Amino acid sequence: MSNKSFTAGPGPRLLLCVVLLGTSVVALVGSDAAPNPPVITVEMLETLKVLPGGLAALPSVPVPPDNPQTDAKVQLGKHLFFDKRLSLDRSLSCSSCHDPAKAFTDGRTKASGFGGFTLSRNAPTVLNAAFNRAQFWDGRARSLEEQAKGPLTAKHEMNMLDEHLLVARLNHVPEYKKQFQTAFGSAPSLDNVARAIAAFERTLTTPDSRFDRYANGDKSSLTVHEKQGLILFFGKAACAECHNGPNFTDDKLYGLGTSSAANKSADMGRFAVTRLRQDKGVFKTPTLRNIELTGPYMHDGSFATLEEVVELYNRGGDPGPNKSKLLHKLDLSSQEKSDLIAFLKTLTGTMPAVEKPEMYPDAPLAVNRRLPQ
Ligand code: HEC
Ligand code: HEC
Repeated sequence: MSNKSFTAGPGPRLLLCVVLLGTSVVALVGSDAAPNPPVITVEMLETLKVLPGGLAALPSVPVPPDNPQTDAKVQLGKHLFFDKRLSLDRSLSCSSCHDPAKAFTDGRTKASGFGGFTLSRNAPTVLNAAFNRAQFWDGRARSLEEQAKGPLTAKHEMNMLDEHLLVARLNHVPEYKKQFQTAFGSAPSLDNVARAIAAFERTLTTPDSRFDRYANGDKSSLTVHEKQGLILFFGKAACAECHNGPNFTDDKLYGLGTSSAANKSADMGRFAVTRLRQDKGVFKTPTLRNIELTGPYMHDGSFATLEEVVELYNRGGDPGPNKSKLLHKLDLSSQEKSDLIAFLKTLTGTMPAVEKPEMYPDAPLAVNRRLPQ
């Protein structure tokens, strides 16, 4: 993907200024000083027809034309998502690290991979990942289809050596052979496994959070403190500079200065994909939907609580490489911090009802034959 698509455009605060003041905002552009957003009251908030930054209720999920949603495909994808056959030693399924009981994360600082190997990153939630225009903390996959192939063959994750092994395993299960025929009119393949899993993931959205109800016009669904938090979110605290749009992410990448330049083994984020100096310590803006349920936070799980995350932003980020110019010291009062966090907690939506399906048995073995490894 082109790095260019991640260049930050004018933020919502800029647009808010235009909306509210109708005056020139030249002073904000290209300045390093903390911009002074217009003060807006809860009464003014309630009169806005649209919220700044494109913050809005979750729309329906975008579906790529080459992988239309069908019931058969979604059911197959759900089965595969839970099936440990998809890892070399049959120990891990997608759901091991994206557990429905933990808002589709694993609740760990860093994920535990093949043979108990601790991965270098935190497992993000799969909830609403269907809205992401870039997948992974470094944005290296564009689509859910492309993403799903990653863990299947990654040595430290599911470690399926190649497509041949995956296909042999699935072909050994009569129900899967039937399901692939119904869903795709063909035998199992890596592409179709990824398509089915992606179709299932497109059902994992969380509409109807209290914020969504507010955005849809129910002004009573947020408390005054939560409304103050929303005003801070796009105003003084400037969170919506990056966490914007209905999924609370701009799908772009930034440095928050948290990667230490001195630590040679530090995760350098996007740099590993592009080898560009300006990408050192740069990570994708994650969604904030359901954030109350998806800790620990950040690519490395370094923050256990939302309070710690807000402190990072309050001090204007850390001094590591490529810190975004959008970060400034915020000088939030303790009331403001707690309002902001109260607002973040209104982003928890209705969880999809997903039960682990009954796993299929392998076909009986012919004498002297071994299961595909
Ligand atoms: C061993 C734990 C583990 C397993 C198993 C696993 N994942 Fe993940 N998943 C992760 C981690 C860690 C990341 C972040 C990796 C990165 O950014 O480099 C991730 C990232 C993702 C993302 C990107 C989300 C985002 O917001 O960027 C999706 C989607 C996803 N996984 C789906 C799946 C699917 C589908 C499977 C099964 C085929 C799967 N995962 C198996 C740990 C795991
Ligand atoms: C310059 C863009 C930018 C701004 C401004 C910004 N964020 Fe972030 N946010 C990010 C990025 C990038 C990450 C991921 C960083 C990482 O993993 O190291 C992130 C991560 C987070 C996380 C952790 C999400 C998770 O799933 O682990 C939370 C919570 C968060 N931000 C809240 C906020 C709040 C609240 C504000 C305003 C005070 C804010 N952000 C302002 C870009 C931004």
